[in-house]
Order: sequence, then C-alpha cells, then structure tokens
Amino acid sequence: YVIGIDLGTSAVKSALVDREGQVAGEHSESYPLMRPKPGYSEQNPEDWVEGTIRSLERLIVKTGIQPSQVDGISFSGQMHGLVLVDGDGKPLRPAILWNDTRTTAQCRKIESALGERLLDIARNKALEGFTLPKLLWVQENEPELLEQAKLFLLPKDYVRFRLTGEYATEYSDAAGTLLLDAAAKDWSAEIAQAFNLPLSLCPPLTESFGQTGGLLPEIAERAGLAPGTKVFAGGADNACGALGAGILGEGRTMCSIGTSGVVLSYESDKTLNLKGSAHFFNHAEKDGYYIMGVTLAAGYSLTWFKETFAGDKSFDDLLAGIGDIPAGSGGLLFTPYIVGERTPHADSDIRGSFIGMDSGHSLTHFARAVLEGITFSLRESVDIVRGAGKEIKEIVSIGGGARNPDWLQMQADIFNATIIRLESEQGPALGAAMLAAYGAGWFGSLEECAAAFIRPAGAYQPNPEQVGRYEGIYSLYQDVYGQTRELN
Ligand code: XUL
Repeated sequence: YVIGIDLGTSAVKSALVDREGQVAGEHSESYPLMRPKPGYSEQNPEDWVEGTIRSLERLIVKTGIQPSQVDGISFSGQMHGLVLVDGDGKPLRPAILWNDTRTTAQCRKIESALGERLLDIARNKALEGFTLPKLLWVQENEPELLEQAKLFLLPKDYVRFRLTGEYATEYSDAAGTLLLDAAAKDWSAEIAQAFNLPLSLCPPLTESFGQTGGLLPEIAERAGLAPGTKVFAGGADNACGALGAGILGEGRTMCSIGTSGVVLSYESDKTLNLKGSAHFFNHAEKDGYYIMGVTLAAGYSLTWFKETFAGDKSFDDLLAGIGDIPAGSGGLLFTPYIVGERTPHADSDIRGSFIGMDSGHSLTHFARAVLEGITFSLRESVDIVRGAGKEIKEIVSIGGGARNPDWLQMQADIFNATIIRLESEQGPALGAAMLAAYGAGWFGSLEECAAAFIRPAGAYQPNPEQVGRYEGIYSLYQDVYGQTRELN
C-alpha cells in the first residue's frame, strides 16, 4: 500500500491505496479556520500536524494493516499558504491562507516594482492569495517576525517537515509563491532582491516524487506506522488533482467543479507566457506544466441558489427537471460572480446577475440557468487554453459537476468537447498516492501509474445543434461582465 494525504482547507484526509489504485480505506480530521478580521483567513499549523497524525492513526486502526505494508507516503496540499518558521522550526505566527485577501496593496507594489518581469519569470499575475504578497505583508506589518524567520514553508511542506524533520518544497507548490522562476525551476534571485528578501528564506527544492526523508520514530509510533517509512515530497492540490484525473500529457484537460471550478490543461512548453490571463504552474510530473483557469463560485453558486431560493429541496430534487428545459433556459442568463471572479477577470468587486426573467419561468429554469452560467464561466478558461494554441477535444470532468448527467451533457455542448467521466474519483489524495507509488518504485513512470489507477466510465459527445445554440448565448454572456461592472 501507499498513503496519500490531502491537506485541505477544512480537513485533512488520509487515503490508503493498493497497487490497482483502489482506495482500501480513508479517514478525515477537520480543523478550524480563523477569520480574526475581515479578509483575513488563518490556520494554526499545529492543527494540521495533529489532524494529520490522527488521520493516519485512525486509518491504520480502521484498515487493520501491518505497518510494514506501507511502502510510502506523500502529500497534496492547499496552495500558497505562508508558514514562517524560526531556527527551531517553530511557526512564528498562524499560517496565512490562500483565501486571505489582506494583501491588495502588496500586490500593487509587486506589479509596480517588477512589471512584465513578474510574468516573464513567475508567469502569474500578483494575486492576493499567493505567497509573496503575504511575505511582504509580514515585512511591512510584523517586521520583527520576518527578522526571526529562518525560512517559509507551504502548508503541506510544514506538515512533512514535522513528520520527517526535513525542510523541502517541490516545484508545483513553489510555483504558487511568485518567487519561482518557472522555466529555470529555481528560486528567482531577481524577485527576492527586488523586495530585500534573502533567498535563504526559500526552502530547498525537489521533485514531487522525490523522497524527503522518512517518518520520525515518535511520529511513527503515534500513527501506528513503521519508523523510517519513506515520505515523498508531494504536490499542490491542483497538481495532484490533475494527476488523479490522468492529466499527464499534451491534449489532456480536466474540468473540476467543487466549491470553486477549475479548468486545467497539461502544458509541455516551459516558455509559454499567458501574460497572466490564466495561472501557469509547474506540474507534479517532471518538467511538466499546466494552465489553469478558476471560477471562484462554481458549485458554490448552485449551493447559494439552493439555500436561498429552494427551501428544503435536495440538489437532486432541484435539478430533477432541468433536462426537460431547452438549452438557454428559456432566455434566462446567470453570471456566477457572487463572490467576484478570477479567470478571465481577476476582479474581486464584480457581482453576479440573472437577466431575462419571464413570468413563466419556474425554479427549474433558474436552476438550469445557474448551471449554464457556471459552465459559461469555465468555457472562458477553456477559450484561454485554446487561444494558447491547444486543441481541446476531450475533457475529463470531476467533482460535483460530474455527478449529474444533464450537467455533463451541458459541459459537452458548451465546451464543444467530449466529456469523460471517471469510474471513481479520489481527487488530490489519489494524486498524492500516485506520487508515493511512483516514488517507491511501483511503476516506471507516472503515466504507467495513471494507466493502472485511473479508469474512464463513460463519455458525453457534443450535440452540434446545441453547440450552435450555446455559441450565441455564450457571446451574450461574455458581454454581461462589462455591462454590470458599474453596478456595485
Ligand atoms: C489555487 C488556489 C486554490 C487552493 C485551494 O490557485 O488558490 O485552488 O489551492 O486549496
């Protein structure tokens, strides 16, 4: 067996995976998120460590396996979070998370200091969630802490450090800091120097499948595992999600609809510069990259709609009749900007809309319009990938968006691509397990591992008539952003 640990924002999940990629058991432990001021989002790194050890311990007890049966452990982690540690490896303050938005001023500072160089080197725009703006916030607001800091770590890297005693990060998570030279796969001295940050603050870099030590005896004892069990570096949650959906080569794209929605496409060209129109990150696979667009409120738009307008209805009840309503929801159009948007409009102020309401529209028309609006927003990310010269004929759909056949068909028609559904989805935890499986030598490559672990379960073909109909509505959808910007 191998174990994939997914360190999320609300919980950590440990999954035990066998040689066929089947999950033999899993256990989650949740932890709190702190919002001490508006826009702040913090967690206590100790909660992650304790949650991880407990989740391992429960997993081993539940499955009854012997410690010697575990060949390796690896991680998937929430991206971008800043953990600053002192010379003893102790966190100097709570972690500042990816969804913390206190750093707008620092983002403007980064852009004005570096201009196009930021895009040349780090390949991403300065966004509040990323790590460098958080470091600059500490530099300005808590300078004494930065002086005491030995280095910074990303969330899963801190947990791994506590499990093994070794400091390390890997390229897929380093790519989300804005301090990595994405093509050179090294920390950027130019960016660090521009803000008087010593390069020694950046942790040592390795590959995602590289071994970074073994389980410390005291941790192994608490978790019920063998001391020295091999621990592999792991990857960013989006990179691990991509691994778990088999996005491991040119032409492979996934659409993942959870609270937020992600369109992610494999990229092999390290020189590609999207000028910040979408994220460009290093993959967990050696020398690979991916393009990623994000819709902030994807599944969240549907949840919000259900809770606000649909009383006690379940999702299944709410969506039961949407297949009987034609494409376009009878002229009703929704934009899913209820908490702002990220791709293609990095705009935290924009808000959503319903347009074209008719007295004959039912709740089901609205529900269908919500799904269409979410899918149009994701289509904008698909367009960015196609605009970068990629042909997208096939998209693997995962997450909540893959549970409803009408929504899967809608994705095929709006993206004008074949939509593939997987037999079972384990998301980022499976990707983490794949890194451990490959690192431990079970397979000759991650592709071989993906072939053994990931099984497609069905396909949805675009219907040419619907595709044509949606093209017209999509162009109207795209106009709404500019027309509603002044509303808030
Ligand atoms: C990616 C991002 C989120 C976090 C969530 O840029 O901010 O997907 O990784 O864990």
